[in-house]
Amino acid sequence: MTPSRHATRRSSSEGGRSRELALILAGRTWLGGKIRSIEIGIDEEGTIRAIGRSLRGAPRHDVGESFLLPSATDLHVHFRDPGRESDVEDFATGTLQAALGGLGLVADMPNTRPRVDTLDRLRAKEARAQGRALVDVLLYAAATPRASLDALARRAGAFKLYLSPTTDVDEVPTGADLDRLLARVAATNLPLSVHAEDPARFHQEIEPANPPDWNRVRPVDAERTAVDALLRGPSGLRLHVAHVTDATIAGRLRNEGASFEATPHHLLLSERSGDGAKFKVNPPLRSERRRRALWEAFVRGEIPCLASDHAPHSSEEKQRPFPLAPSGMPNVETMLPLLLARVRAGDLPLPILLAAACDRPARWIGQPRGRIALGHRADLLVVDFRVRRTIAARNLHAPCGWTAFEGWEGIFPREHYLRGRRIVEGGEFVGGHGGIIVRPEFAPTRAPPQPRPIAE
Ligand code: NCD
Ligand code: ZN
Repeated sequence: MTPSRHATRRSSSEGGRSRELALILAGRTWLGGKIRSIEIGIDEEGTIRAIGRSLRGAPRHDVGESFLLPSATDLHVHFRDPGRESDVEDFATGTLQAALGGLGLVADMPNTRPRVDTLDRLRAKEARAQGRALVDVLLYAAATPRASLDALARRAGAFKLYLSPTTDVDEVPTGADLDRLLARVAATNLPLSVHAEDPARFHQEIEPANPPDWNRVRPVDAERTAVDALLRGPSGLRLHVAHVTDATIAGRLRNEGASFEATPHHLLLSERSGDGAKFKVNPPLRSERRRRALWEAFVRGEIPCLASDHAPHSSEEKQRPFPLAPSGMPNVETMLPLLLARVRAGDLPLPILLAAACDRPARWIGQPRGRIALGHRADLLVVDFRVRRTIAARNLHAPCGWTAFEGWEGIFPREHYLRGRRIVEGGEFVGGHGGIIVRPEFAPTRAPPQPRPIAE
């Protein structure tokens, strides 16, 4: 690269890093409260080093009328790696869907086979992700009473705690065991995501035959009591509540300054959206009234994070009788496209989506990404809001081969850059430049930041 005068001015070293640009992306984005034309200068290491109107000194790629947006971070995926013989997903297939769905970082849950509750198992899982992951990965460790949390905390990206049984989770801590566990997790200073349902409130006497029954078996009340117990926990806990389904619980968590997430299925689907076990998920899909209230809270920017809870059970498993079928649905490729389509339809402000999908999840796990800002990772998407696609399982890349969003509209990123290198072009995966395993790089934000512009 022959630096122009302009680039030379920018090439002064900062913190030992060269500021010379390797690539300039030009397009439109949402910046400072409005749509603007911008140029983003990216260095050789894949960090955003310049934001301006006419940058020079590196090859320039102009995306025209399309938008340049930060890649999203998904705090909740189940890639089943390592898994059972019958599990259809692994790090390669899961991160391919993530790349195509606009996610630059996915946080993988520890309810694998075996469960990630020892250092050896964590290392073994790292080895499986290394070289296979096509986007960046953060690994959760399981917070259980017997686990050696200090050792795990030095290597894991975050902890996950299950308060109720779910896929591959049978035993859960209660009472004094739970109090002790929360205090031990708080002492490690690592973020903690919690599956918050209280099984004492489940109605096991109901034999479920469909999603409305499942909603009665595991009611909102179970979520409420679990969240209440967590909020009585130690104040130093970097708490994040997974898959919140109810707007009043969301309001309570917000008032307490806790982080939490909602999934696209709880925001867009209700217990009446589909019959059959493909719509069986934990926590259950709720009534249409509750779903609408959750969606409205999301649109107002009151739900800090969006997360997929991608749980890819095979079609065969989902064809079992309802009570025996496993809970969970795939969503990692469709999460952002579904929500970008809501933006295009005028139902959801773009900055609200970017805050929930990109900025706040990255902050919670202490990662410098999720905004078009100097020093941030150049994980970027090119999105053309004029190009809509009808979602169909046969066109997706999930080995499980089905989606609960068949026939829905999606806007898929046309290009995806991971650390400044293009991995998706024309909606197709074009290159494995390699994801890395990441951990928090700065103190995770406990309180969810309020909606704000995505770039200074
Ligand atoms: C998840 C799975 O299958 O791993 N299932 C689900 O219904 N969400 C586990 C979980 O998050 O509860
Ligand atoms: Zn989950």
